[in-house]
Amino acid sequence: MPGTDLFGAEEKKEVLDVLDTGCLFRYNHEHLRQEMWKAREMEEEVKQFTGAYYAHAVSSGSTAVASVMAAAGLGFGDEIIVPPFTYIATIEGVLLGGGLPVFAEIDETLCLSAEGIEKAITPKTKGVMLVHMCGAAADMDGIMEVCRKHNLTLIEDAGQALGAFYKGTSVGLFGKAGGFSFDFFKITTAGEGGVCITNDKEIYDIITQFSDHGHDHIGDNRGMEQHPILGTNFRISELHAAVGLAQMRKINTIREAKRSHKVYLKQRLSEVAGITFRHLPDEEGDSGTFLNFFLPDQATAEKAAKALGEAGVGAAYWYTNMYHFINQWDHLKELRSPFKMAIHHLGAPQDYKNLELPKSQEVVGRLISIGMKVTWTEEEREALANRMTAVLKEVLAH
Ligand SMILES: Cc1ncc(COP(=O)(O)O)c(C=O)c1O
Repeated sequence: MPGTDLFGAEEKKEVLDVLDTGCLFRYNHEHLRQEMWKAREMEEEVKQFTGAYYAHAVSSGSTAVASVMAAAGLGFGDEIIVPPFTYIATIEGVLLGGGLPVFAEIDETLCLSAEGIEKAITPKTKGVMLVHMCGAAADMDGIMEVCRKHNLTLIEDAGQALGAFYKGTSVGLFGKAGGFSFDFFKITTAGEGGVCITNDKEIYDIITQFSDHGHDHIGDNRGMEQHPILGTNFRISELHAAVGLAQMRKINTIREAKRSHKVYLKQRLSEVAGITFRHLPDEEGDSGTFLNFFLPDQATAEKAAKALGEAGVGAAYWYTNMYHFINQWDHLKELRSPFKMAIHHLGAPQDYKNLELPKSQEVVGRLISIGMKVTWTEEEREALANRMTAVLKEVLAH
């Protein structure tokens, strides 16, 4: 999955540009920077690729999600519906913004379902933090309809889904704003980094200010700017943005290679009776970062994940993975935090320790994901498919 699959001279050139100027800061210092604005250029690339009117690069996907939450006007005491299958950063972003996470069911799309959202709504529900898991979009028609019907603000954690579209629209553009991650494991990487996108100028302005201590960024006068709001430092450095920029220029190549591997492997795995695939509301819009498939039950999935690992196939079994599924989030269940948040003051809206989410448990328990490597040759992917089908047939035969 990492963008570092295709990492080379282009990334080095962009980084050296920055080092040559000595201006590592994304704002101001126009006399130093010799017209080098790597964060701005990275944002332009993201705008062009996603079709967003506005893009703002920040220090990580986690800070992108927190910025989106702040800019959407969601906060203290608002119940925000979240999925139990995501990365913990989604939940942290809601908590940092003062929101109270309310878990709802996902389905075979691997994302929150419209039905799951509707069932989790209470009079205090103000928003939905939708996560487009494993590189593809949720069922946007159904989810948009529920949000409209109940007047809920939709925001998107698209941390894993740069390159995913739904009926031609990039994820991140369905709600008020969305955030992408550029960490080491994503389709394109900046080392560490994130980008928020939106079509709303007011939201964009808040994101740019919030992620830089509230500065309004008017003029070349660092330190003397106005600060209309309070914020914090979620800035990306020019060095990270330089890497992200070079990677963005390759995203179409990366996406096409991943999609082609995924289509091939999916077709080969369909030979195995007993395997079913993630439901993709728009298969054409899939970024192709993962092939996600289901075994008939949890015990078989556990066996299959183990056997695939032993056969040298890097398979993710999220059900027991420490960061991606609620079962392992003891720190959340006990609300362990070095600082006091709204949830400590107001109380959790659900009993996180004893939450029952049978559909999500069943879906994630049966799920296995395989990351697509950009640089696989046709021979390598064929050999991989042969190994996978052999292992899975063997497991399913017993
Ligand atoms: C869904 C999701 N949101 C947010 C993040 C956080 O991104 P970062 O690691 O860049 O902070 C991740 C990272 O894996 C993620 O998967």
